[in-house]
Amino acid sequence: MGFWDKLFGKPTKEENVMTKLNIGIILGSTRQGRVSPQVGEWVKGIADKRGDANYEIVDIADFKLPFLGTTDGTEPGIGEWNQKLASLDGFVFIVQEYNHSITGALKNALDFAREAWNDKAAGIVSYGSTGGARAAEHLRGICGELKIADVRTHPTLSLFTDFENGSVFKPQDLHLNNVNTMLDEVMAWSGALKTLR
Ligand SMILES: Cc1cc2nc3c(=O)[nH]c(=O)nc-3n(C[C@H](O)[C@H](O)[C@H](O)COP(=O)(O)O)c2cc1C
Repeated sequence: MGFWDKLFGKPTKEENVMTKLNIGIILGSTRQGRVSPQVGEWVKGIADKRGDANYEIVDIADFKLPFLGTTDGTEPGIGEWNQKLASLDGFVFIVQEYNHSITGALKNALDFAREAWNDKAAGIVSYGSTGGARAAEHLRGICGELKIADVRTHPTLSLFTDFENGSVFKPQDLHLNNVNTMLDEVMAWSGALKTLR
C-alpha cells in the first residue's frame, strides 16, 4: 500500500472482500445433463472480470431440498439454503424454460425461503427455444411476491443459436453487453436495497 493510500484509508484487498456486495448466481435446473452450470460459469466469468462484487455460483442441487410439504421440514439443507440466501445481497437467476415456465426445482427453492429473499435485487439470464422469455416473465411475478426487485435488462439465450446440439454452450458475442448492463443494474439496486435491511 502506498503513502497516499494509507493516508486516505484506501481499503486493502481483504477489506474489499468484506465490504463488497455478495451476489449469488443461482442455477435454476437440477436434472442430470443440465446445461445451467455452463451458463452460470459464463456469467460468473464476465462478473468476476468487473471486480465490483463477490460473485458465487449457488447450485440448488447442493442443498438437497425436499419437495415442500412432503417432510417435517427438519432436513439440514433447508436451513443451509436460507443461510446461504441470507448471506447474499443480490442474485442472478439462471433460468431455463420448462413447459413455458420455470423449473419445479427453482419454484420449490423459491418457496423454501421468505425473509432471506426480501429487499434484494435480481437479474435474470434465461434460455430456451424463445430465449426462455416465458419462464423469465413467470419468475418476475414470483419476485414481486418475495419482494425481490428484478432489474429490466435480461439476456435471453437461444437453444438454437447459443448452443450446439442444445447441449454445448457457445454464446454469441452480442450477449456480453447485455450481461454487463444487467449486472450494472443488479449492483445499483442491491447497494440501494441494502440500506433498507
Ligand atoms: C420438462 C422439460 C420441458 C421443457 N419445456 C420447454 C418449453 O416449454 N420451452 C422451451 O423453450 N424449452 C423447453 N424445454 C427445453 C429446455 O429449455 C432445454 O432442455 C434446456 O437445456 C433445459 O435447461 P437445463 O439443461 O439447464 O435443464 C424443456 C425441457 C424439459 C426437460
